[in-house]
Amino acid sequence: MRQLRLSKSCITQEEKRAVMSVLDRGYLGMGPEVRDFENDLTSFFGRPATCIVNGTAALHLALQGIGIKSGDEVLVQSLTYVASFQAITAAGGIPIACDFDPDTGCIDLIDARQRVSDKTKAIMPVHYAGGVGDLDELYKFAEEYDLRVIEDAAHAFGTEYKGSKVGSFGDIACFSFDGIKNITSGEGGCIVTDDPMVLERIRDARQLGVEQDSERRFAGLRSWNPNVLDQGWRYHMSDIMAAIGRIQLKNFDHHRTKRQSLAKEYSAILAEESLVTLFNHDYEKVVPHIFVVILDPSVDRSKLMDILSKSGVPTGIHYKPNHLLSFFHRKGIRALPITEEYSSRLLTLPLHPELTRDDVRYITTELREHLRDA
Ligand SMILES: Cc1ncc(COP(=O)(O)O)c(C=O)c1O
Repeated sequence: MRQLRLSKSCITQEEKRAVMSVLDRGYLGMGPEVRDFENDLTSFFGRPATCIVNGTAALHLALQGIGIKSGDEVLVQSLTYVASFQAITAAGGIPIACDFDPDTGCIDLIDARQRVSDKTKAIMPVHYAGGVGDLDELYKFAEEYDLRVIEDAAHAFGTEYKGSKVGSFGDIACFSFDGIKNITSGEGGCIVTDDPMVLERIRDARQLGVEQDSERRFAGLRSWNPNVLDQGWRYHMSDIMAAIGRIQLKNFDHHRTKRQSLAKEYSAILAEESLVTLFNHDYEKVVPHIFVVILDPSVDRSKLMDILSKSGVPTGIHYKPNHLLSFFHRKGIRALPITEEYSSRLLTLPLHPELTRDDVRYITTELREHLRDA
């Protein structure tokens, strides 16, 4: 019997050699490798990228960078990883849980509109599973209410929207490079923006707020007479991480096409299955981080997950809605009917670059065979 993985960090000898050369150099902190990774990412996006220790910290710094403070409200879909919500509260903001659009998995702007208040300062669209929905509409909405936009693009590295890469346009985009993302640096992430005020704030804030410390470290210097102008955090990336990230970025085309071809294979097979609905993603443009299906309400998801696990097919749930978590639950919150209905029907199938098309055929055969027993 096969034993598949739901997700996997896919690392080659090249990444291992790159890490070894950093170890041999004897400088592991934020130095030349991070500087070069930042330059590589800046070329990739066509505007400045700043490397951060992880995607959650990237979101936190971006929120601080736009000046979110205690009591400010940020619109965000409830269907996201807890990182989006934690980043908002870490910055002192209040996450205002919104519904999502079951066609795309992205924030439902009709619902979000009803939750705007005079305290709303920003919107954080989450590019769920790599899809971005209608970003033109989203930016129009933000303009209408004078909101900053922080795109949680943790799932969407490489996705294109109308011919442009996510992150290459818009206000601010935050990516995650954790072990199983479209590219990894072990842990890690980056913020992409060309807002000079935000850039200045985040570059210092990632180094405990020490003024111009990033630039000094990239030049191999330290200041023994530092100044600090604002609250900072120890959120910088290390050279070990950047060494992995640079190789992953160089080989991204391979990872991208592999993820897209597996998602196309899943979609072609599952289009025939009446007990499963798919998100409306064009896998020529979307680079999927996860592959999620919506089960028919008649299917018992837990039972199905158990049966599939016994056939060597691990599955996952992305996500339990955040407004149902005790820390984020707010009294008097207006219902989120789509989130509440759909979240119990979402099922994530295995996806990573080492999976084969034959594995996808095996997974879908097992899924289809057992959908009706569950
Ligand atoms: C939607 C979303 N946002 C933010 C993050 C946070 O990224 P990180 O794990 O690098 O902190 C993740 C990570 O999985 C995520 O899925």
